[in-house]
Amino acid sequence: MEDVGRIFGDVGLGQFHLLLTRPVERGDYVAVDDELHGSVLCQLDDLKRKSDFDIDRAATTEGADPAAIHQNLLGVARVIGYRDAGGIVKCPTIPFRPGAHVYRAEEPLIAEVLGLKHRPSTGAYVGLLRNHALRVELDINQLVQRHVSVLAKTGGGKSYLLGVLIEELLRHKVTCVIIDPHGEYGSLRHPAEKNPATGRFGVEVQGFARQVQEYSPDVSLNPSAKPLTFSLRHTDPRDLLVFMGLTNVKSYLGPLKQLLEAAAAQSADYSVHDLVRAAELTEGAAAETLRERLEYVEQTKLLGPVGTSLNELVQRGQATLVNLRGIAPDVQELVVARIASTLFENRKKEKIPPLFLVIEEAHNFAPQQGTATCSRILKNIASEGRKFGLGLCAVTQRAARIDKSVLSQCNTQLILQVTNPLDLKAIAQSIEGLTDGMTQMIQSLPVGVALITGGGYHTPLFCEVRPRASRHGGESVQVVAA
Ligand SMILES: Nc1ncnc2c1ncn2[C@@H]1O[C@H](COP(=O)(O)OP(=O)(O)OP(=O)(O)O)[C@@H](O)[C@H]1O
Ligand SMILES: [Mg+2]
Repeated sequence: MEDVGRIFGDVGLGQFHLLLTRPVERGDYVAVDDELHGSVLCQLDDLKRKSDFDIDRAATTEGADPAAIHQNLLGVARVIGYRDAGGIVKCPTIPFRPGAHVYRAEEPLIAEVLGLKHRPSTGAYVGLLRNHALRVELDINQLVQRHVSVLAKTGGGKSYLLGVLIEELLRHKVTCVIIDPHGEYGSLRHPAEKNPATGRFGVEVQGFARQVQEYSPDVSLNPSAKPLTFSLRHTDPRDLLVFMGLTNVKSYLGPLKQLLEAAAAQSADYSVHDLVRAAELTEGAAAETLRERLEYVEQTKLLGPVGTSLNELVQRGQATLVNLRGIAPDVQELVVARIASTLFENRKKEKIPPLFLVIEEAHNFAPQQGTATCSRILKNIASEGRKFGLGLCAVTQRAARIDKSVLSQCNTQLILQVTNPLDLKAIAQSIEGLTDGMTQMIQSLPVGVALITGGGYHTPLFCEVRPRASRHGGESVQVVAA
């Protein structure tokens, strides 16, 4: 084992200071031999170079020989722990001794303590532990049962990482529904260009055309998609109120039911237009509001005599993309509300397989301030979905702007570079076990490195995201040719 330093000063149970004799980087794993428990895994959280080259010497010894400067590399390490005979990760209950040697942790110890194992049937391979050749796999059952958030500033690599995750879920035949506001995920159908990095990660390029289907409320804008419509007749009046953006159920449910009865009495195949006509013939403020909102719903063309069937929309082992590119934001909210509530109700009755519902740009669909039509159902899924095998994945570039209750229900967080102080604060508040050192590191993560918390791991870890097997669809638009 490579000796990298020695412990000095006061030694705590959770962290200690060390004098480094070899260059070790922030985030690297080190080990200390404990008398009682053998090798204990620790991680360098912070580094500092201390020197006798003070301000007075700096002012007088310009150009002085650097060799004359006495300096030390000091580190702060956090104790992660050891695995006991029962396989539980524990921390020593007696501090290490000052003077103890600190070693560079070897990969078998890191893998054992962090729990990095190849799990062919339950693991989603997302990348390699940073600076190591150890596979990081997320437990698929945990992902679906306990929700996921993907957080990073714009261009931080969220969609790329999510693409990796979806590829893994498709390989494991997990059903996914992806709310895709920018129409980025259709590229999952096509294999990625061969990339020299794929070898190191052991990734074979592959397209998923057979497992991807795409729907859109507007197929003229999105010609690769099949039309998405909802059946008016099968729309519960309460859901219809949601579509109409009316939250005051008490005031409007009764009058709406009357309009539905009036329209149904005229024709079994009544349309939204028939409801508008029925509202026009009804007196009162409630009918007037209903008419206005129904006219708006009529324009969206989302409700027709026959809707897209649930069995078409959700197919076992398939990813269904709901492409909302070019759709007005309020209509997007209606679509998300309807799909999310249909999925939730049918999952409760076990009419559809357990599934993973991905919401891209989740700060728009479940905002912390203001409301979105779909906010309530997304909050319900976040708090109760796990009981019914409906996993939520919230992807956002604004952690501070997404509903806090949704964020805090996500037990697996995939965090890429975040620099906005408000977003960092929201992340630090919603995640247990995130140290100050990690919060600082999040600000300078290179593209392609994620901090993973949860997902079957008891301690946060940094992961180099593996290259995509399929093509990434979120490339930036070139403004001028290179
Ligand atoms: N792991 C990675 N390896 C290589 N390139 C990556 C990786 N992650 C992201 N990139 C590149 O970085 C760019 C931005 O990634 P991506 O589209 O995923 O960002 P984003 O966080 O989804 O941004 P936005 O908020 O704008 O949607 C892309 O061009 C992508 O190719
Ligand atoms: Mg994106």
